[in-house]
Amino acid sequence: MKKRAVLLCFAVVIAILCSARAAADIAPEPEEYSPAEKYLPRQETSKPMVALTFDDGPSGQYTLQILDILRQYDAKATFFLSGYRLTENQYAVAREILNEGCEIGNHTYSHTDLTTLTPEEIQWEIDSTNDLIFAATGTTANLLRPPYGEFDENVLSAGYPVVTWCIDTLDWMHMDPQKSLQAVQENAFDGCIILMHDMFETSAQGCRLIVPWLIGEGYELVTVSELFAAKGQTLSSGSTHRWAG
Ligand code: NI
Repeated sequence: MKKRAVLLCFAVVIAILCSARAAADIAPEPEEYSPAEKYLPRQETSKPMVALTFDDGPSGQYTLQILDILRQYDAKATFFLSGYRLTENQYAVAREILNEGCEIGNHTYSHTDLTTLTPEEIQWEIDSTNDLIFAATGTTANLLRPPYGEFDENVLSAGYPVVTWCIDTLDWMHMDPQKSLQAVQENAFDGCIILMHDMFETSAQGCRLIVPWLIGEGYELVTVSELFAAKGQTLSSGSTHRWAG
């Protein structure tokens, strides 16, 4: 029994020594690490993002002024165009929106509250506007912004993602660039969609304040489609989208 106990003890010591050696073998020498492997993989920290949106245009000079401001800051936005505004002399403005890397959305032809229309009339409002967008730019809009943000089941069934907003600058109402800025300063968050109108000089002036403020706060200004793609979210037809995230 005693001999057996000594043998067992010896075996345990050998086992411990072997496992310690094995551990030493497994542990790589420090110089085997490449510098990158010394640290945990770095998380891709994406910047906070917002989508500025402009409704009711195109309106010639104001749309172009806003595009100029966006270009200065390498910022993008989405322009929801009204069909009745997209006359032939505005085709070049629509093309300029796309040339600047911005996005065009559909704001219907006549800017009527769609909840007052039949499904056929809703379809005509959307299709005729997309026909004009196509005539101007060679592409059509994938996103629908219903006038006044009003929608019902018929609007949701029209085959487009409905994009509304979560921050309304009310630029059309107060016509005060500072108040538009203030609305953004008080409410901006990562993933938000901001409503403005490229119809007024005061809105372009508001844009001149809002864009640098957002950039200064670390926001990246992207199109609605880019915003949702960046957040890994789908803009699905039949759904409404007020923000991403
Ligand atoms: Ni509108």
